[in-house]
Amino acid sequence: MTSEILYESPNHKFIYIGKDVDRPDYIIDTNQYLLIHDDVATIIDPGGIEMFSSVSSAFAGEVRMSNVKFIFSSHQDPDVVSALALWLSITDSKIIIDRIWSSFISHYGAKPNNMIMVEDGGMKFNMAKDYAFDIIPAHYLHSPGQLNLYDPISKILFTGDIGAALIPKEDLKSKRRPNVFVKDFDNHIKYMEFFHKRFMPSNEPKKIWIDRVSKLDVEMIVPQHGLIFKGKDMVNRFLNWFDSLNLGIYSK
Ligand SMILES: [Fe+2]
Ligand SMILES: [Fe+2]
Repeated sequence: MTSEILYESPNHKFIYIGKDVDRPDYIIDTNQYLLIHDDVATIIDPGGIEMFSSVSSAFAGEVRMSNVKFIFSSHQDPDVVSALALWLSITDSKIIIDRIWSSFISHYGAKPNNMIMVEDGGMKFNMAKDYAFDIIPAHYLHSPGQLNLYDPISKILFTGDIGAALIPKEDLKSKRRPNVFVKDFDNHIKYMEFFHKRFMPSNEPKKIWIDRVSKLDVEMIVPQHGLIFKGKDMVNRFLNWFDSLNLGIYSK
């Protein structure tokens, strides 16, 4: 596993873990994140059941499992949260997810008393005594109940499947340490295009989302697959590219 500290101050940390070059070819590559403020931690999109042992041992080097109080799930997909039952067995945490998926993720072991259901409009979430992150709606991109997380301290926007890229495994293996950040945006487009066009239904939710996130001060866009868009220039390049892309029913 490759890890990278995306932001660090004495009481606040945003950590990336992913690019597992040993994963089998038939499993999609996922990015996992850990947000720590004081002694409270949130795991962001913990990943699939097959990733649990490598992700949990990587996170155990960063945080005490007893300090993990929340698991943020951008949406209901198995690559996002099928390991939920295992995470709930080693942490005393609550799962944060869009209300429409609450009864579905019960199949992953969640129960009403350990769920925080988010309404359509999103919310500010008080994670620690003096710290809150923003839960931002990103519905239909691609899941009809998709949530983003914005950390106002690091100015990192976690976008779930928005900005996702499927990087060929050979590309990851060819380097001593896999890239974490997008270096060449134009070259990166080919890894993103199909997913956004095929999995996202139409342009309307995209316009609403771009309008919404354009009002935020974003230093980094961190997706659930692929590479991170670091710096305002890269963030804007991604938003401009996404804005001009025809999705779903418009993509023919
Ligand atoms: Fe998904
Ligand atoms: Fe995904």
